[in-house]
Amino acid sequence: MFGKKRPTPQIDKDQLELIENAQKRIRQKKGLYIHFVIFLLGAVFLIIANTVLGIGKEVTFFGKEWFLYAILAWSFFFVYHLITVFVTHKFMGKAWEKEQLEKLVAKQQVRIEALKSTLDKEEKLIVKSEVFKSEQKVKEAISTGNQELTVIVAAAENDAIGKGNKLIWHLSDDLKRFKSLTNGHHIIMGRKTFESFPKPLPNRTHVVITRQTDYKAPEGVILVNSLEEAIEASKSDVQPYIIGGGEIYKQAMAVADKIELTRVHESFDADTFFPEVDTSIWKETAHKFHNKDDKHDYEFTFLTYERK
Ligand SMILES: NC(=O)c1ccc[n+]([C@@H]2O[C@H](COP(=O)([O-])OP(=O)(O)OC[C@H]3O[C@@H](n4cnc5c(N)ncnc54)[C@H](OP(=O)(O)O)[C@@H]3O)[C@@H](O)[C@H]2O)c1
Repeated sequence: MFGKKRPTPQIDKDQLELIENAQKRIRQKKGLYIHFVIFLLGAVFLIIANTVLGIGKEVTFFGKEWFLYAILAWSFFFVYHLITVFVTHKFMGKAWEKEQLEKLVAKQQVRIEALKSTLDKEEKLIVKSEVFKSEQKVKEAISTGNQELTVIVAAAENDAIGKGNKLIWHLSDDLKRFKSLTNGHHIIMGRKTFESFPKPLPNRTHVVITRQTDYKAPEGVILVNSLEEAIEASKSDVQPYIIGGGEIYKQAMAVADKIELTRVHESFDADTFFPEVDTSIWKETAHKFHNKDDKHDYEFTFLTYERK
């Protein structure tokens, strides 16, 4: 009594439906068979009733006995029954309905997939146009200020520019050039580059880009939330410099007018890189090689590129 309950076999919905269908078919065929037997017996009975027992002997239609019409009408009814069991139910039964439904669902699925891909394409177009609009806005900000927006960077042969939020090399003449070029100007940078300095550089207006709304910086440092705002904040300067790092360079390449690149002739392990300079957009306008010496561990070249 308190022993384990016997596990009852589980039949899933599809199996149950198949069993029910099979039972229904058996009932239909059985019904047809019984109808056939009754029809045969009924026909024999009608013939005997008329010819042997003389029932309605005098009733004729178009010269034929009435039982012939009764048997004919019944045989039509039987043929109709036969057709419903073997033809109509086969073609329009549950299995047929299911098949039609599956076909329709598959067709709808194809349509949904086609719609999805159209939507994806439209979404990409919208994103592209948003990027385009934002670049246009930045370009407008530059053009109204008559500025020459300049990217200044030192990049290795493999485009490496930094690792662990630090520079990878120390090249004193490159630092001197950076100082002399940027002196008195706005320097636009990402929050991480700003944090890599021990303190703000003298005689330059620092414009720091961050997405943070509560970021704290020393007095005099201009905080902005986008490159576009950084350019707007440097409107009074004819030559603002974009000084990095990797994230900001990537965004600035589309809007800069000039690149001051120090190409360090060595490859380094790094976590931050400068985007490739596309020579179909940029033309080299100045080139100055610097040798290795006791103050410089690597050879390098000062390169100036201007937009074609
Ligand atoms: N070799 C060179 O000439 C050179 C020059 C500069 C820097 N570096 C090196 O580059 C590395 C730093 O570069 P990085 O790419 O890691 O960082 P980054 O570009 O200096 O700063 C990235 C930060 O800028 C902010 N930012 C970026 N895009 C923004 C946008 N569209 N709107 C608002 N804020 C935005 C975000 O700040 P929040 O996270 O605060 O939102 C982001 O985390 C360091 O290793 C550094 O030494 C090398």
